Amino acid sequence: MFAMALSQYGGPEVLEATELPEPKVGPDSVLLRTRAVGVNPVDYKIREGALDGLIPSHFPLVPGFDVAGVVERVGPAVVGIAVGDEVVAYNRQDHLEVGTYAELTSVPQRAVALRPTSVGWAEAGALPLVGLTAYQAIIDRLDLRKGETLLVHAASGGVGTMAVQIAGILGAEVVGTAGDRNQDRVTAFGATAVPYGDGLVDRVRALYPEGVDAVLDLVGGQALDDSPELVRDPARICSIIDPQRALDLGGSYHFCRPDADQLATLAGWVDEGRLRIDVGRTLPLAEAAEAQRLQEQGEVVGKIVLTA
Ligand SMILES: NC(=O)c1ccc[n+]([C@@H]2O[C@H](COP(=O)([O-])OP(=O)(O)OC[C@H]3O[C@@H](n4cnc5c(N)ncnc54)[C@H](OP(=O)(O)O)[C@@H]3O)[C@@H](O)[C@H]2O)c1
Repeated sequence: MFAMALSQYGGPEVLEATELPEPKVGPDSVLLRTRAVGVNPVDYKIREGALDGLIPSHFPLVPGFDVAGVVERVGPAVVGIAVGDEVVAYNRQDHLEVGTYAELTSVPQRAVALRPTSVGWAEAGALPLVGLTAYQAIIDRLDLRKGETLLVHAASGGVGTMAVQIAGILGAEVVGTAGDRNQDRVTAFGATAVPYGDGLVDRVRALYPEGVDAVLDLVGGQALDDSPELVRDPARICSIIDPQRALDLGGSYHFCRPDADQLATLAGWVDEGRLRIDVGRTLPLAEAAEAQRLQEQGEVVGKIVLTA
């Protein structure tokens, strides 16, 4: 099968078109024929070797966690998913090797849900990782409730726009930080927008003198360090960037995990028109190196998606 894979860590150029054997399908897994693959910052971090010490990794390594596609085969223990089903998945496994930048990908059933049908393949393929990350951080870690206030650091990106909308679905009020060019974008997704950078504490304090109920940090650094001054209880700071710093501040860290039920909930919200996935650019799978370059440069507004 055709795949984009790396045989060594490095720049975008190490991501090469490759012919690989069709993936084997374990008892609890399904084989998907890829239609769309959401590109995420973790993809280029893996290519650069940043996760090598954390997750067992094997070359040739096919990157990619997000996928939307059609079920081509099911393992003998799989119940409730059939050949021909159109699905989405967050295919992050314990080893990095069989990712989604490929014509075919083998995915455990625990990571698979029916795709939202009211949107195109590209939107569906961009949903899993950013949707699940925001959902789990806000609901499982921060336990955000109706009527509460949430500050999202980096609200204009993939995870940020999901977080703003999910908090809104829960009935919470959101203030989100973004660069100058994205202030209107954050407002359009349903949050009060504030510029990040120097003076952020004063700007948020002006809106919420008593502090907010919870903080979701999607950027780390100064934004995370400023968070205890902005939240009533530091236990309700969750970072997806900096585990040690988040714990030192009394908060929590979250790493996205596959969850079929949560993914089905997200797909349902999309079909109900309550959750919007904004795709900024699509490229063919063979142009994965260019897609990662664009992702790393941060110039595309909206999700970057590979199509197959
Ligand atoms: N732990 C996990 O499981 C997990 C899961 C998903 C993502 N992540 C990580 O979370 C980060 C965000 O992911 P993403 O997919 O949302 O990335 P993204 O779509 O590339 O968005 C990044 C955003 O960061 C904003 N930003 C840059 N500098 C900032 C600053 N100083 N203060 C506030 N915002 C700033 C940018 O805003 P402007 O463009 O408006 O300047 C941009 O919208 C990445 O590092 C990713 O690897 C971790």
